[in-house]
Amino acid sequence: MTATLIDGVALSKQLRTEVAQRAAALAPKGIKPGLAVILVGDNPASQVYVRNKVKACEDVGFHSVLEKYEATMSEAELLARVEALNNDPSIHGILVQLPLPDHIDDHKVIEAISPLKDVDGFHVASAGALMVGEAGFKACTPYGCMKMLESIGMKDLRGKHAVVIGRSNIVGKPMALMLLQANATVTVCHSGTADLAAMTRQADVVVAAVGKRNVLTADMVKSGAVVIDVGMNRNDEGKLCGDVDFDGVREVAGWITPVPGGVGPMTITMLLVNTMESAERVAA
Ligand code: GUN
Repeated sequence: MTATLIDGVALSKQLRTEVAQRAAALAPKGIKPGLAVILVGDNPASQVYVRNKVKACEDVGFHSVLEKYEATMSEAELLARVEALNNDPSIHGILVQLPLPDHIDDHKVIEAISPLKDVDGFHVASAGALMVGEAGFKACTPYGCMKMLESIGMKDLRGKHAVVIGRSNIVGKPMALMLLQANATVTVCHSGTADLAAMTRQADVVVAAVGKRNVLTADMVKSGAVVIDVGMNRNDEGKLCGDVDFDGVREVAGWITPVPGGVGPMTITMLLVNTMESAERVAA
């Protein structure tokens, strides 16, 4: 079997077109969805990410503000900027790009963002809302993975076993909760799991979110399974690759997401969706 690709670029395009239409529909009310992105320091990867986020906002007709600060910015100064954006009616979403310099407490900064503008879904109020099944912003990467599953007719996962590899606060844990919400039976694997392959071989859906190459190989995958690759790594030739041994696994899986062109574009798309929802809430 050769797996069918789940094309994150095509799905993103479709979802972004819908977002652009929703944004246009708010214009008569004098509301333009606004996203503020704060970047502290000069981490090269972060610079690329924030540029892509701002560009994506422009493409769907959002207002976007990119605030760049020196790595020497104090925590108090950053907290003051977040507070100002919390109170700025032209801004519906606030994103503080991580990682922050060592002298700034990430947690404190994220908690300073109003949960009403926490479009990254990282605030404890957003995480708690997901935990208890209440409305709140969903973390963009796992939310994008759920949209990918939905796109192949797997919105309801009743009777399916989903295995998540990785337990980070921004992907693994919220991913597990979203899969649970979709009625899957969920197993979360991590560095302390005794026999990872024994777990993944049972899975109808595997989400790999570790940040390490070849975490999932063909011998670990059940025939026909859906494989979602959240990883973003570089191979020995410097080429972008995921956590999954793509060439091997695609011969066994039923569906697979490529890297690049899979989950990556979906993360930014869901940021736009969250910002859109925030603006619509204000308009309602
Ligand atoms: N750094 C890497 N990914 C992300 C993300 O999705 N949001 C934020 N705020 N920082 C990141």
